[in-house]
Amino acid sequence: MNAPLKGLAMQAPAYVRNAKLIAWVAEMAALCKPAQIHWCDGSAEEYDRLCQQMVDAGTFKKLNPAKRPNSFLATSDPSDVARVEDRTYICSATKEDAGPTNNWMAPAEMRATLQPLFDGCMQGRTMYVVPFSMGPLGSPIAHIGIELSDSPYVAVNMKIMTRMGRAVYDVLGADGEFVPCVHTVGAPLADGQKDVAWPCNKTKYIVHYPETREIWSYGSGYGGNALLGKKCFALRIASKMGRAASEGPSGNPGWLAEHMLILGVTNPTGKKYHVAAAFPSACGKTNFAMLIPPAGFDGWKVTTIGDDIAWIKPGADGKLHAINPEAGYFGVAPGTNMQTNPNCMASLDRDVIFTNVALTDDGDVWWEGMSEAPAHAIDWQGKDWTPAIARETGAKAAHPNARFTVAATNNPALDEAWDDPKGVAIDAFIFGGRRSTTVPLVTEARNWVEGVYMAATMGSETTAAAAGQQGVVRRDPFAMLPFMGYNMSDYFQHWLDLGKKLEASGARLPKIYTTNWFRKGEDGKFVWPGYGENMRVLKWMIDRIEQKADGSEHVFGVSPRYEDLNWTGLDFSAEQFRTVTSIDKAAWLAELKLHAELFQQLAHHLPQELPATKAAIEKRLAA
Ligand code: OXD
Ligand code: MN
Repeated sequence: MNAPLKGLAMQAPAYVRNAKLIAWVAEMAALCKPAQIHWCDGSAEEYDRLCQQMVDAGTFKKLNPAKRPNSFLATSDPSDVARVEDRTYICSATKEDAGPTNNWMAPAEMRATLQPLFDGCMQGRTMYVVPFSMGPLGSPIAHIGIELSDSPYVAVNMKIMTRMGRAVYDVLGADGEFVPCVHTVGAPLADGQKDVAWPCNKTKYIVHYPETREIWSYGSGYGGNALLGKKCFALRIASKMGRAASEGPSGNPGWLAEHMLILGVTNPTGKKYHVAAAFPSACGKTNFAMLIPPAGFDGWKVTTIGDDIAWIKPGADGKLHAINPEAGYFGVAPGTNMQTNPNCMASLDRDVIFTNVALTDDGDVWWEGMSEAPAHAIDWQGKDWTPAIARETGAKAAHPNARFTVAATNNPALDEAWDDPKGVAIDAFIFGGRRSTTVPLVTEARNWVEGVYMAATMGSETTAAAAGQQGVVRRDPFAMLPFMGYNMSDYFQHWLDLGKKLEASGARLPKIYTTNWFRKGEDGKFVWPGYGENMRVLKWMIDRIEQKADGSEHVFGVSPRYEDLNWTGLDFSAEQFRTVTSIDKAAWLAELKLHAELFQQLAHHLPQELPATKAAIEKRLAA
């Protein structure tokens, strides 16, 4: 092993004044033993230099600038293609605090496990010090993190995904707080050892210490495992921070860190509303956030504030104000095209990092569902790919979880308030799972508790981003199952308490809806056209807020009748509508049994309002 380079961390630039940060970098450098330290300043020059360095190292391919200016393709090791939920840990002081939905290990035991893995883990590599703000710099809702990583891929992705760079140190000052995040690909290089294009380790640990607000990630260079501002900080650590703020005698209601897109929707009278929507991974959050209203919706406009995460705090006006803590989109490429998401396609015209899509012969990218297949491409594993090979072997040109990383500012539908430090006031929450049966197209909860019940019991059929079998319904409360930083039942209680406190202060709470775009007909095909057509449902919600739309009340809420939606420009029969909205008694009795199983699993600290709501639904169903 190389000797640690003494005094390395002290080479901090003069504008870094935070003594705690400098000491921590020194401590981590002594442990990880990098060959050098690079303090990222977030400049365009630095971004270009690191990208070129990765081109030279074979990690990046530069795409044809005539087709896709300033864009790159990275292809990962086949063993490192997605978040690793089974290797993700919440190491709270007690197992109860992590709750039954999280992997847990006692903090001391985890530290003892990680210590030898991190000892010398960055040997032969550069440690990048990546300063980032989650949320607009200096916003009262934002927080700062510092990621130490031995991956230049992480450094450049963090530049796109967060407000990353020198200005963060000005906000941090001499004694500001930051969340320390340490990341290594876990592939030290011995003297003279040649690097590989995508270093990683078959052993992986994605570890959170919620009490001390630390993140340690080992062995993966991919997505949420490695870009620690995203799922690790902005959801797992931040969810815990939001609830901790509500503890104690102050009466502070705390805040929420949610797996939600945020959009603005303006109606033809010019009135603007804001909606935050939680869908499990790979259920079309980016598509919904960038929705273009179809023909027949003249004067309606949808604008994007965020596509994946919302931090939501009660404001002095009693409303819930949301910011997007991120500054870019790390979206799933396959299935994205000019029909499903034209705004996203336009966002991807330039300045993009693609990961695990296919390379075309003219130096551009392609993925399944993007457009007509090219006659030949190099697939994400570097092999020749043709439509004939795909037919014969089933080989995919792009990995199903292939991604793009692109700045929010590339989005033509970006909301003018996307970077507003005050955030936007939320008028409605949506929770939507992927269910081929049972759950109707849209339901409005009659009150906050019913809405929390619907969110808490949400189920969704698993897709590529989740480990394990595909197409199996798993309960995914609030679409937060893989992202909860503490006990799920305590989180339900936090939502209930927040609602109660806001209501007591006289505030009008946002309405809560559930949606399901994914009901299938007897032929196994989706019945609802989805994508831009989801505007019909969104309009109904906005009209409900304005008390302009009707619906019919049923056992667990209010849903539109056929005549309550605007059908201009879409050929969708009353019979098709019935297929996506029907409530089948037997299916719901079976569904409620699954809710009971969930409640049994979450019995510790489960708020009594939830089984009470279930009992009320059962009673109405039996009547
Ligand atoms: C994501 C996810 O990458 O939810 O956003 O998995
Ligand atoms: Mn997500």
